Amino acid sequence: MMNKNVETALNKQVQKEEFSSRLYLAMAIWCEVNGYPGAAAFLYEHTNEERMHQMKMIHYTNERGGKAALFELEAPKADFDSLEDVFSQVLAHEEFITNSINTLYGLTVAEKDYTTGNFLQWYITEQVEEESTMRTILDKIKLVGKDKAGMFHIDKELEAMAQSSTAGTA
Ligand code: FEO
Repeated sequence: MMNKNVETALNKQVQKEEFSSRLYLAMAIWCEVNGYPGAAAFLYEHTNEERMHQMKMIHYTNERGGKAALFELEAPKADFDSLEDVFSQVLAHEEFITNSINTLYGLTVAEKDYTTGNFLQWYITEQVEEESTMRTILDKIKLVGKDKAGMFHIDKELEAMAQSSTAGTA
């Protein structure tokens, strides 16, 4: 049987991954109706990635003799000031998730559940990548400021990133 404290903590992380998926969905919707189709495509794609993070954890919990549980989710924010606002909130959210994964990893060490600790390595690596991707995008957005042509270019770049991500195995 899976350690109860670890099982509860994994389920709370599942809830956070599910919320991440909804948060990026809300952001994608905002981008789509505010003239950023590329950013919308990128965030719609990212919604699917978060769903995958959630599913991977659910299957792990069930396969290890635990039972995944779903909790209530609060509605994500629906309105944003700008594309820069969207991506600064994405980055802040990813930093929050990184902290949460690290705390979860710490718990597996304290509980001597090394198998789950090993499973979480994938998430630790994934968070490094996600933070780095989001930080790069935010830096670019900040760099172009209010320049419309620059913003158009960034939106195209995000569209290309969404397409290459869909074509990949992730
Ligand atoms: Fe599941 Fe973007 O972290």
